[in-house]
Amino acid sequence: MLSVKNLIDTNSLTADDITQILDTARSFAEVNSRSIKKVPALRGRTIVNLFLEPSTRTRSSFELAEKRLSADSLNMGGSTSSVVKGESLADTIQTIAAMNVDMFICRAKLAGTPQLITENTDAVVINAGDGKHQHPTQAMLDLYTIRENFGHLDGLKVAIVGDLAHSRVVGSLAPALKTMGADVTLVGPPTFTVDDPTWFGCPQTCDFDSVIPDMDVIYMLRVQLERMEGAAIPSRREYNRLFGLDGVRASRMKEDAIVCHPGPMNRGMEINTEVADAARSRILDQVSAGVATRMAEMYLLLGGENNGIDA
Ligand code: CP
Repeated sequence: MLSVKNLIDTNSLTADDITQILDTARSFAEVNSRSIKKVPALRGRTIVNLFLEPSTRTRSSFELAEKRLSADSLNMGGSTSSVVKGESLADTIQTIAAMNVDMFICRAKLAGTPQLITENTDAVVINAGDGKHQHPTQAMLDLYTIRENFGHLDGLKVAIVGDLAHSRVVGSLAPALKTMGADVTLVGPPTFTVDDPTWFGCPQTCDFDSVIPDMDVIYMLRVQLERMEGAAIPSRREYNRLFGLDGVRASRMKEDAIVCHPGPMNRGMEINTEVADAARSRILDQVSAGVATRMAEMYLLLGGENNGIDA
């Protein structure tokens, strides 16, 4: 059992919680490798996928994870619900909750929306990404991918690089890595760094080239073009020249160091194709891990015992 009722942020997770999620995800990764990829672990449970902002990876992996756990799903988007007729989100949640659902998965443009849902239902809530705030299930799949690669997380040197100011990924990933004993450095251009020297207790630098040779993991953040007000960067080409991970920079990485990116990628901006598709890239492993880790989170939060994982 996890120490939290809902998965809203990674700050609330203990090292034991994270280890449980990653270990349980391993069992589900084995299920996902079978020809029949289904277990009865959440049979009879009802899960609502409330996606109020576009998503490819998170939405499809949650839907697949629910099917593979034998849960019943209800898919809702902002434009197809009565929110467009002026109904408040609180009323929408109370309405759906009155149908006796067990869990809400919520992706929202507005930070704090998953927390608001917890205040309007007794069902379990998972944050599938809210504004610039948090993306905890992304962090769990990232940790799973990194741990599978190195066999451990403690002591690893990880650089999280790019659009720190607008990223919910860094908001979840940096604290989770710290909890698991990794050594995190935040790297970004001056317009994307955060004016807080104690942010997550991680050092921040604008000098990407100086940190590359020391890192075990270089985690490139997507430049959040849709979340910017005004011109924070001169051009895609200039950003790529100063902060993009291209083949020349990647050639200065440790031999066994890996590259991660949460997707979707701006190829030619924060990452170049020769790196995104190279042997050291773990980007598609991250996508695969998304299904197994989300299965683990739903299973553990709905009180799963070992009652069907092996079926
Ligand atoms: N990484 C991520 O959250 O991707 P999607 O927006 O496609 O879900």
